Amino acid sequence: MIDLAASILSANFACLGAEVQAAVEGGATVLHLDIMDGHFVPNLTIGPPVVAALRKVSPVSLDCHLMIEHPDEFIPVLAEAGVDWISVHQEACTHLDRTLRLIASHGSKPGVVINPGTPIHVLDEVLPLVHHVLVMSVNPGFGGQSFIHSSLRKIESLSEVRESRGLQFRIEVDGGVHHETVASIVRAGAEILVAGSAVFENGNPRENAKRLLESALLAANGPGRVARYQGASS
Ligand code: DX5
Ligand code: ZN
Repeated sequence: MIDLAASILSANFACLGAEVQAAVEGGATVLHLDIMDGHFVPNLTIGPPVVAALRKVSPVSLDCHLMIEHPDEFIPVLAEAGVDWISVHQEACTHLDRTLRLIASHGSKPGVVINPGTPIHVLDEVLPLVHHVLVMSVNPGFGGQSFIHSSLRKIESLSEVRESRGLQFRIEVDGGVHHETVASIVRAGAEILVAGSAVFENGNPRENAKRLLESALLAANGPGRVARYQGASS
């Protein structure tokens, strides 16, 4: 199952509703919302009011990627705003188990994120708790960066660990997902593909999303089975 998660970080914020609509029409099955605090990462973005506004216009799941210190303080209000998935950075959580359980207790699906410099073995104890693991394939904070290729090995290893332990989490990748990189990312085992600049820059988000999803589905299934896995978000 492949989901295309359109990251609004690269969208035109002056007409966000229309941008979201176009990406969804092009096949985006998830909306990826990057929340930054200027401390955990050197950038500031949106907060709960914008998330709540997007909830009203988005027909697809909202995937909230928290790049903030003290994420526990914002989990209740984001869940209240209607986000479906909330992911927190392993590097930002002193009590990661507690934070993931807090997300679930507020009715959202918990995810854990690791930076490019963080090995996957630090997640061993929490893998049974999460709906998804988000592998950062750029250092977080900005859109439009180049894909870090060592992330492919981490995706493959996570896929093997999931298989060997009989777990259910999904594997998401974020950063540098473009036409040139998407096939190898999918073949490594990623199932939720976050794409910002590839969808919202250089032209038409509807057409960009459609073409990127087609490339991903070709890599996953072969050309004859493209239709089968569209709209897979859960
Ligand atoms: C970066 C964000 C990403 C960003 C990806 O810290 O987490 O979601 O939007 O941008 P692209 O797809 O342009 O690499
Ligand atoms: Zn993100």
